[in-house]
Amino acid sequence: MRHVELGVFMPVGSNGFLMSKAAPQYQPSFALHREIAQTAEDLGLDYLFSMGKWMGFGGATDFWKETIEPISMAPALAAATSRIKIFATINPLLYKPAVAAKILATIDGISGGRFGINIVTGNTLEEVEQLGVVPEGYTDYRYQYADEWISLIKLLWSQDRTTFEGRFFQVANCVSDPKPVQRPAIQIVSAGLSGEGLAFGVKHSDYQFVGGEPNVMQRLREASAGRDTPLKAATNLMLIFGKTDEEAAAKLDTLIAERDHEALDNLIASFERDNRGSYKVRTDYLRDPRVIGFGNGTPVTGTPKTVAAKLASMITTSGLDAIQFTFIDFVEDLKIFGTESVPELRRLLLDQGVRLSDTLAK
Ligand SMILES: Cc1cc2nc3c(=O)[nH]c(=O)nc-3n(C[C@H](O)[C@H](O)[C@H](O)COP(=O)(O)O)c2cc1C
Repeated sequence: MRHVELGVFMPVGSNGFLMSKAAPQYQPSFALHREIAQTAEDLGLDYLFSMGKWMGFGGATDFWKETIEPISMAPALAAATSRIKIFATINPLLYKPAVAAKILATIDGISGGRFGINIVTGNTLEEVEQLGVVPEGYTDYRYQYADEWISLIKLLWSQDRTTFEGRFFQVANCVSDPKPVQRPAIQIVSAGLSGEGLAFGVKHSDYQFVGGEPNVMQRLREASAGRDTPLKAATNLMLIFGKTDEEAAAKLDTLIAERDHEALDNLIASFERDNRGSYKVRTDYLRDPRVIGFGNGTPVTGTPKTVAAKLASMITTSGLDAIQFTFIDFVEDLKIFGTESVPELRRLLLDQGVRLSDTLAK
């Protein structure tokens, strides 16, 4: 029976993912993340996912002014939990592969084999350029760089000694122990929307994020047809609850009415500066007048029962394998989801031959 995993898209940036003056304004703290992680684990969710962002986009809400770093947070979340999987984003520009291999294996050991990585090449070039880490011509070869980086790491994770002569990386007789405890390997996620980004996911990843663009699932299935194991499709959605469907819809309308246009414009400008193949999909999305944030995912509104019904229909028709949720309040709304929506969602999905994890509420 098809299995769908449910996770939380952790709010590692100021104000989570919402660019609206009507949204709660807060800075990301480890205390908040630990509380979300433990709540998600208690509710039986499958995973936590933290993005890695290195700059904010200003505006009235000072969107993402602070962003906490996910690789350094992962072992702390692992120590604060015991079952839930923990995914953290890593950019190959920031760590030499032989160093990353050991750091990631160490975190996997701390977590007892519950760790995964989201490999990214930089949300916008501006974000990584300001760190002073971008080599000449990087835009033209960013996925080749990432491919070589993770290919070498996989060798280091599986061999006693590794000698490697690549275009970007070279090691001679390099040891890397301990190995990850997870078998067959640390789980890999990727989120590239371009042809190259998708090809990278097909070659290396267990999960591939898909956005809302047309035919994306078909593209994914076609591209991954030759793989031994399926490439699982993941996405993010925002859940907005109310005591009635109207109340939930009104909350969304209030967020829309108070959009932070300046932050949205700054983010669009950062994408447009890159002129990447994939930027248009993202700027078209951000120009939609009902968009209230970045990364929050399509809003799904209603009472917990209505939300369950909407999710069941989306899961059944989309073929998605994993969904990570964002919320207005990441603790209280997560509890509502886990206790009030999930049992109904489980029941509706079972009728359609789709299974949720046994750890979730029945
Ligand atoms: C759910 C999701 C999470 C992402 N997280 C990050 C991230 O943490 N850091 C980052 O630099 N890019 C992140 N991205 C951007 C992608 O890695 C990718 O660069 C983007 O989708 C554009 O595709 P392309 O790289 O193939 O051009 C994320 C994308 C998605 C859909």
